Amino acid sequence: MNSATQITPMTPHSHAPEMGELTPYQTGPALTKATLTQMGVALEWQDGQQTTLPLRWLRDHCACEECRHPQTRERLYLPLEAIDKPPSVSLLEGHLYLQWQDDHLSAFHGGWLYQRRPEALRPSALPTIKAWEDNFTPKRVRHSDFLTPEGEKAWLTAMLQDGLALITDGPLAEEEVSRLAERIGPLRATNFGARFDVRSKPNPNNAAYTAVGLPLHIDLPNWRQPPDIQLLYCLQNGASGGESLFADGARVVDALRQQAPDALTILSETPIDFRFQDETHDIATRAPVVSLDAAGHLVEIRMNNWIRDALHIPVEQMDAWYSAYALLWKLFHSEAHQLEFTLLPGQMVAFDNRRVLHGRREFDPNSGARHLQGTYLDRDMLASRLRVLARDQ
Ligand code: OGA
Ligand code: ZN
Ligand code: ZN
Repeated sequence: MNSATQITPMTPHSHAPEMGELTPYQTGPALTKATLTQMGVALEWQDGQQTTLPLRWLRDHCACEECRHPQTRERLYLPLEAIDKPPSVSLLEGHLYLQWQDDHLSAFHGGWLYQRRPEALRPSALPTIKAWEDNFTPKRVRHSDFLTPEGEKAWLTAMLQDGLALITDGPLAEEEVSRLAERIGPLRATNFGARFDVRSKPNPNNAAYTAVGLPLHIDLPNWRQPPDIQLLYCLQNGASGGESLFADGARVVDALRQQAPDALTILSETPIDFRFQDETHDIATRAPVVSLDAAGHLVEIRMNNWIRDALHIPVEQMDAWYSAYALLWKLFHSEAHQLEFTLLPGQMVAFDNRRVLHGRREFDPNSGARHLQGTYLDRDMLASRLRVLARDQ
């Protein structure tokens, strides 16, 4: 790179550069220094933060109308070429201007660059996962509050952090679950439809459609991509029994790691088969019961004993696998890890289906009616809503 290039000031711009970005970036310390170096452009802000951004990165992030679509805000520039000649660099009113060798002009808002300096944590409106503790009590948001941005934000935050939250005092209206879900995103359809009814039915094709108790499970582990978020809205719960049960996979997997790390290794490294079949479907996949990331954190749990398929693993691993599965099962179903409550009509429980296991106690269909309506959402839509709501802060 030719370090002798002159820094030539350009005509001052009366307005700050537009970055094609809806999350606010206008606040933050002012950009006070911009210097061309061997490594790129060295920047410094009023609070002392510094970084050096390579020329290729800067050229790639140009937000002019040629480089970023002015309506969709999507990138148009394709960064295939090296930059052999450095641009001229100027700093005006806290913003960075680069004039490239082909005369292309890039303008960067100092606050936008501050948010994106590689040394900073990536900007995020999202809460991090927090495993349940002993005294965990789910967040409850009144239905009328959920319809306000603050209430919705509280519910979304709890969903992403705790993996479970309640909406209370809602109307006893058919399809209310769909209306609530659609505020967040499109319903995620499955072989049971986009919206399903949970009540005992004649000729059930699924244990949930009977009156039997359901041990803790996730729904649809037989899909490559099980639904992320499940919503269950209670319309009637007059039958005796039928209490709801939940347990946090993040917490239980931590407990298994403490008690029996080898069992966790077996469950996380042995893919097994899951399968659902009825007259029109045969949906199957193979995956471990516990998926962990490289740091050992839970990515997802797949436990559902009644749609586990024949165990097809090497014979010499079978005993150890069954023992590990039994340990995890017992941990999930131990009193200490279970949350139990009765859903009341007008309440909706929502939970992260790939993290928090759910179940219910047996009920007596002759003692009264029990009717829940359910649907699913993608977690991306919850995260999206939270980012959109955070724009107005
Ligand atoms: C289900 C389910 C819980 C309940 O439909 O998958 O787990 O409380 N239902 O009936
Ligand atoms: Zn451009
Ligand atoms: Zn279920």
